[in-house]
Order: sequence, then structure tokens, then C-alpha cells
Amino acid sequence: MKKGRASKAAAIATILFCLLLLWFHTMSLSSTSRINNITATTTTVFPTKISREKTRVAMQTVKSQNSQPMPRAQQEQLPLTSQISCNRTYLRYDLCSIDGPTVLDPTTSTFFMVAPTSTVQVEKIKPYPRKYEDYIMAQIKELSLTSGPPSPPCKIQHDAPALVFSAGGYTGNFFHDFNDGFLPLFITASSIFPNRDFIMVVSQARDWWPSKYADLLKVFSEHPIVTLEKDSATHCFPSATLGLMSHGFMTIDQTLIPSSKTLMHFRHLLEKAYDGSRSLVSSPHHCPNSLSRPRLILVSRRHNVARTIMNQEEVIQVMKEIGFDVIVFEPRRDTSLDESYALINSSHAMVGVHGAGLTHALFLRPRSVFIQVVPIGVDWAADVFFGRVARGLNLEYIEYKIGVEESSLVKKYGKDNMLLKDPYALQKKGWPIEIMDIYLKEQNVKLDLLKFRKSLEGAYHMAKKFMHRAR
Ligand SMILES: *[C@@H]1O[C@H](CO)[C@@H](O)[C@H](O)[C@H]1NC(C)=O
Ligand SMILES: *[C@@H]1O[C@H](CO)[C@@H](O)[C@H](O)[C@H]1NC(C)=O
Ligand SMILES: *[C@@H]1O[C@H](CO)[C@@H](O)[C@H](O)[C@H]1NC(C)=O
Repeated sequence: MKKGRASKAAAIATILFCLLLLWFHTMSLSSTSRINNITATTTTVFPTKISREKTRVAMQTVKSQNSQPMPRAQQEQLPLTSQISCNRTYLRYDLCSIDGPTVLDPTTSTFFMVAPTSTVQVEKIKPYPRKYEDYIMAQIKELSLTSGPPSPPCKIQHDAPALVFSAGGYTGNFFHDFNDGFLPLFITASSIFPNRDFIMVVSQARDWWPSKYADLLKVFSEHPIVTLEKDSATHCFPSATLGLMSHGFMTIDQTLIPSSKTLMHFRHLLEKAYDGSRSLVSSPHHCPNSLSRPRLILVSRRHNVARTIMNQEEVIQVMKEIGFDVIVFEPRRDTSLDESYALINSSHAMVGVHGAGLTHALFLRPRSVFIQVVPIGVDWAADVFFGRVARGLNLEYIEYKIGVEESSLVKKYGKDNMLLKDPYALQKKGWPIEIMDIYLKEQNVKLDLLKFRKSLEGAYHMAKKFMHRAR
């Protein structure tokens, strides 16, 4: 749409590069997930008739009662255990909870247990689903859960439980906003609060984040989010869960989630968030050409640091010749998601070089066409980040792997260099940063127009078919 900023582009390139790096970490870590199993329990006995929720309020307001011996007649009761527990057995995340009343003190990022305990237990957690990646976890704020000292008084009382996570780390890159943010949020909310109200408590949210994603956050919970660093008042919740669950890159594993949720369900949620009624973007019907021409979105990286299409104008020409109505889309951080969604949701095809912008494939309607142009050396990430989205949403997916001659690296390194001839052999030895930099930050593509035209023609037929079906 409009011009991107070079600095942001550099940041995105760096991030993507780090992502690839961490893959190797992940691979080597997968057999050694850490197990740390600490659970302290306090047990209080309450009359059976009182509901658990009511009991919790009682515990908060009339603490002294807890130590009173119960009348004999009331002692045929279920023990109510309130505890802090953490599960650190997962590869990608930790998950901690306080399953009873808790007071959050934002100034110390601490969740205090309200029920009295005999022993003091303290747990720490970084609620970001990239546990295996030391580099980024070092930037994630650590939060505490504690059963002592006594909790501070409650300023703001909530009657829904808290779900606590970090919007720091890589957040700000559109791929990561979804991969490390909204997909894990969807999985966690569906797993822990199915059909239940909850309140999001977010740490490290940048200033722009809550407003950019306001519509999407609202479909997860109507309650305003509590932003940890912006708040100094204590908040009390009936219980709290800290951490986000992840099933891996751009994946929702329906065998690990209640009601077999999939990426399709996640897309329904996006549809709800960006409900077309408010949008001003023209639907295809308003455009005379588009009654017969399928609309193709070209995700452009023209102002990014690398992976641009050097002959983009010629490529657009070919797209038009084939019969597409072409729209060049250059997302920026402040691009309105409402508009992006409406635009892409009304299109029939999307094309772009591997990069964060392709996360917008989540906005494509199922059965529409998606072409990912894959530069040399990034096959793995191409498949795992965006191939998975294509499969999850039943898109008509074409992976256009460029030939050596289409890579700008040929000029610099020569086509017989191992870098180009056999990137996979280099990968197996473990890529040093400098090598990754070459593939991700130095490489541009000059598409072979004859060869690419063939893919586009295939895409055109599928887009046309989709267009007729969708009408
Ligand atoms: C955690 O501790 C509990 C209680 O000692 C035990 O039953 C459970 O198997 C342990 N879990 C793991 C993952 O070690
Ligand atoms: C942690 O989660 C795993 C997988 O759900 C479960 O098998 C295990 O019992 C849990 N451990 C604790 C300590 O809760
Ligand atoms: C997305 O497209 C579908 C099918 O054309 C349409 O019903 C829906 O309103 C669109 N959603 C938005 C948010 O524009």
C-alpha cells in the first residue's frame, strides 16, 4: 500500500534470521525438555454447600475464619485446596497458576496468593512461548507467584480469572504477533477457559500494541486488558493462569486442544474481529474489471532490506496479462488490520516472497490461491511458517522455489558456490550467523518470467474457479 521504513525492514530481517537460527536450537533441544515439578499445597476445609466462587470471596474478606475450627456437622466436606503450581515439562512454554484468589501488584509484577499458607512458596515465570530460545527469553520480563508475605489490599476487584502473558520479545513483527501471540493465546484460551470469561493481563506491551490489535483482543475477552507496566493499582482475581501454550510454529494441533479446534477456527475468530460491516474497502463488485478478473494481492517487500522482487514491475505486467486484477500490498506496522483483512478476504490469490508479510495469508478465504516465492536456503522456514498456514486453511498453495539463476547471490558468489549449489549440506553442519545473513539479508530475487508465468497461469485457473464458487 504505502512505503515501508528501512529501519523496520532491518528489524524484520534480523528477526527472521534469528528464527531460522533457533530452529537448530529447537532441533537439538527437543530430546531434553526440562522437568521441574514443584507444587505446594495448602488445604482449607469449607462447608460443601457453599460454592467454590463464593468460598473464595469469603476467604478474601474474612480470612480469620479459616483458622476457626468448623462445627462438627459441617465437617463432611470437600477439602478446598488452593495452590500455586507450575508445569515446566513442556518444550515451548511454562504454565503456572494460582487456583484460588490472588492479588496482583503491578509494581512488583507479583501475584500474591490470598489464602494463608504454612510454608512460603515462590515461583517465577516468563510467560512467552519460546522457552527454548535463550536469546529472546532474556528479554522477557519475569513474573512472580507467591504464597507469602500476605497479599497487599485489593484496589480493583475482578470477578473473572486472569490470563497473563508477555507481548514483548519479538512482538512487533507481524509474523511473531501471531506465531508467538495470538495463536498461542487462542490455544490457551480454548484449553483453559473454554466458554469462560477471562481477563488478559499483558506485560511488556508496546504503546501501539493494544490499539493495533484492539478488535482482535476484544473477541477473546470483552474486558479491557490490564497492562502491567502502565498500572500501579492492585488487581484481584478469583484465580490466575500465567503463560501461553504453543503447539509449534503456526500450528494448532487439534489432538491437543478441547473441541478439536484448528486453524480454521482461528480464522473464524479473525472474521469476527474484522467484521466487514465497518470497513470502507471496496469489495470486488465495486471495481468494473473485477467482475471477471480474479483479484491478486502482491505482498511487496520493496522497502525491506532484502528478499525483494528486483523485477517487480515486469512481474506485475505478466500478472495483468494473464488476467489478474493486481493490487500491490506493502503492509506497515500502522496499516489498519480492518482494511488489510477486508482487502485480502475479498481477494482470490496472494503472492509474495518468504517474509513476515505472508502472515497475511491467515486473512485469505479457504480455497483461495497462495504462492510463496522461496529464495535459496529458506526452504524449511518457508514450509513451517507459511506452508502450514496454507494447509491449515485449505488454500490452493504453490511453493515457487527459485532457481539459482533467479537469486541475486549468483552475481556475488558465483553459481558454483556451495551456498547456492547445496544450502542443505551447509545446514547440516549448522549455519553460522554470517551464512544465515547471506540468505536472509543479502538475497533478492529476479524472477524468471517464463518460468514464473507458468505458476501464475496455474494460479489463475484456480483463482478463477474459486471466484465462481465464491460468488
Ligand atoms: C509431580 O509431582 C507429583 C507429586 O509428587 C507426581 O505425582 C507427579 O508425577 C510429578 N510430575 C512430574 C511431571 O514429575
Ligand atoms: C504437566 O503437563 C503434562 C502434560 O499435560 C502432564 O502430563 C503432567 O502431569 C503435568 N505435570 C504437572 C506437574 O502438573
Ligand atoms: C469475508 O468474505 C466473506 C465471503 O465473501 C464475507 O461474507 C465476509 O463478510 C467477509 N468479511 C469481512 C470482514 O470483510
